Amino acid sequence: VNFASDNAYGVSAPILDAITRANEGAARAYGADEITKRVEAGFAALFEREVGVFLVATGTAANALALSAVTPPYGAVLCHEEAHINVDECGAPEFFTGGAKLVTLHGEGAKIAPESLTAALDGLTPGNPHQVQAAALSLSQASECGLVYSPQEVRALAGIAHARGMAVHMDGARFANAVAGLGVSPAEITWRAGVDVLGFGATKNGALAAEAVIVFDKARAEELMFRRKRGGHLWSKGRFLAAQIEAHLQDGHWLDCARHANAMAQTLADGIRRSNVARLAWPVQANEVFPILPRTVHERLQAEGFVYYEWPGTQPADGKIGPDEVMVRFVTSFATREADVERLLRTLRAG
Ligand SMILES: Cc1ncc(COP(=O)(O)O)c(C=O)c1O
Repeated sequence: VNFASDNAYGVSAPILDAITRANEGAARAYGADEITKRVEAGFAALFEREVGVFLVATGTAANALALSAVTPPYGAVLCHEEAHINVDECGAPEFFTGGAKLVTLHGEGAKIAPESLTAALDGLTPGNPHQVQAAALSLSQASECGLVYSPQEVRALAGIAHARGMAVHMDGARFANAVAGLGVSPAEITWRAGVDVLGFGATKNGALAAEAVIVFDKARAEELMFRRKRGGHLWSKGRFLAAQIEAHLQDGHWLDCARHANAMAQTLADGIRRSNVARLAWPVQANEVFPILPRTVHERLQAEGFVYYEWPGTQPADGKIGPDEVMVRFVTSFATREADVERLLRTLRAG
C-alpha cells in the first residue's frame, strides 16, 4: 500500500476518459485547439477575472517558468529553505531565470515567517549593484509540511513583498488540497490576497501530467508565451494537456479529488492521535500526515509492505525526535482507499 506520494497513484477515470475523447479526429496544434480555449475560459470563471493560462506538463516547469516571468537574471527569489524550488528542482528556477538567486527563509512547518522575510529584505539593498535585487517571493500552498497559508497570511506576506516592488509566486502543486482544506475560493487565496502568478497543480490530484501557470498580471502573459516555447513546454498536441485540465475542472472534479485526499489524511491523523502510539509533527490541513513513530512501529509497517518516506531533517513543532523515533511522511491521494488507511492504522496499533 502506497503512502509515498499523491503522484504514486494514477489518473482519475474522468480525466482518463477525457484524454481518450480528445484522441478522436484532428485539432489545431500548439494550444490553438478548442479544448485549450475552453480551459482558458474555465480558469477565468474559476478565478472570477481575466487570466493568462499556460499549460505545461510538470510542476517543476510551472514553477521555473512562472518565476522566469517575474525575475531578472540578477534577481532574488525569496522562498522557504524547504521549498520544492530550493530542494527538489535541480536548479530549474535558476536555469529558467537565467541565474536568479534563491534566498532562503525560515518558518515553522515550511511556512515563511514574516519576520524572516523582513530580515532577508533588510539585507538586500535596492539599487546596490553588488547585490541581487529582490524580485519575487515564492509561497508553497500547501507547504512541504502539509500546512496551508490562510488568506490573511498570504496578504501579509504579499504586502511586504509588494511594498518592495516584488512579485508574488505561489507553488500550487497541491493548490487543490489547500483550497479544499481552507474552504476558500480560488480567487480569495490568490490574486485577492496578492498573488501575481500561480502554478495550478493537477498531476498530484488525478491528472496524468498537467499543470497550469496562471498569470493574474496580463502584462506578464506575453513574456510567458515566449518563455514556455523556449523552455520546451509548448506541446504540439496541446489538446491532451487541455483535456486533462478541462476534466479536472469539470463539475468541481478537482475539489472532489482533493476533498477525498484530505479526508483520508484526516482519518489517518485521527487514528494516529487516538492510538497513543505516535504523535503528529504538525496539524493536518491538507493531504499530508507527518507522524513521529517509534522505530519498532516504523519497522513493522515496512515489514508489512507499507510504502512511505522517512522525513529526516525537518524539525517538528515540539522540536524533538528521540533516538528511538523516526519522523515519516504519509501522503494521501484522490485514489487512497479508506480500507488501506484502516489497515495502516491497525498495523500501527498492533503490539
Ligand atoms: C510542492 C511541490 N512543488 C512542485 C513539485 C514539482 O512537480 P513535478 O514533480 O511535476 O515537477 C512538487 C512535486 O513533488 C511539489 O511537491
